[in-house]
Amino acid sequence: MEQGPHGIRGSGEDRIDIRIAADPIEFFVEEHMRQRVVCADIDRLATQEPADSDLARKILAHTRDELPLHMLDEEEDLFLLLRRRAHPEDELEKTLFRLDGDHEAGKALAESAAVVLEAVSAGKTHLTKAEAARLHAFADHERRHLIVENAIILPLARARLTETDRKTLALRIAARRGLCLIPDEPDA
Ligand SMILES: [Fe+2]
Ligand SMILES: [Fe+2]
Repeated sequence: MEQGPHGIRGSGEDRIDIRIAADPIEFFVEEHMRQRVVCADIDRLATQEPADSDLARKILAHTRDELPLHMLDEEEDLFLLLRRRAHPEDELEKTLFRLDGDHEAGKALAESAAVVLEAVSAGKTHLTKAEAARLHAFADHERRHLIVENAIILPLARARLTETDRKTLALRIAARRGLCLIPDEPDA
């Protein structure tokens, strides 16, 4: 089996285990890039005529399966580690207060959008203005959220998390996805 740079290995599409092990903070960067693509897909779907059921299913899978895991990666691991390491001048609590609120609002908007996505997945081809607005509202919210995390949280994580923190983060992210991780071998 292929071995990662930190002796972490497992299986998964596009070698997700290797990417997590190599740099868990970069994994968040990549996830955010994927989320921006999904936001663009949502906006595209909202204006399509007829609406594409395959695209709706793809977005729905991301919204139902991947986004909740990503929020847990942040709430239960990344944010907690940052709380331990941040300096007072980082004013982290102010940012986390906003992001926690964002996550709650995002869950509600995701559910609202999911109802529309399910309808399109089931064959609905023409969206009402209200349905299109629900999709756009979800995408707009997610984009604003990503801007804050990319501008403040991820640079702070790079500056403050220790090597042990990063290994802990990698183990937790991978475990949440059912990946098998093997700790570093001690030096011979
Ligand atoms: Fe995020
Ligand atoms: Fe987030």
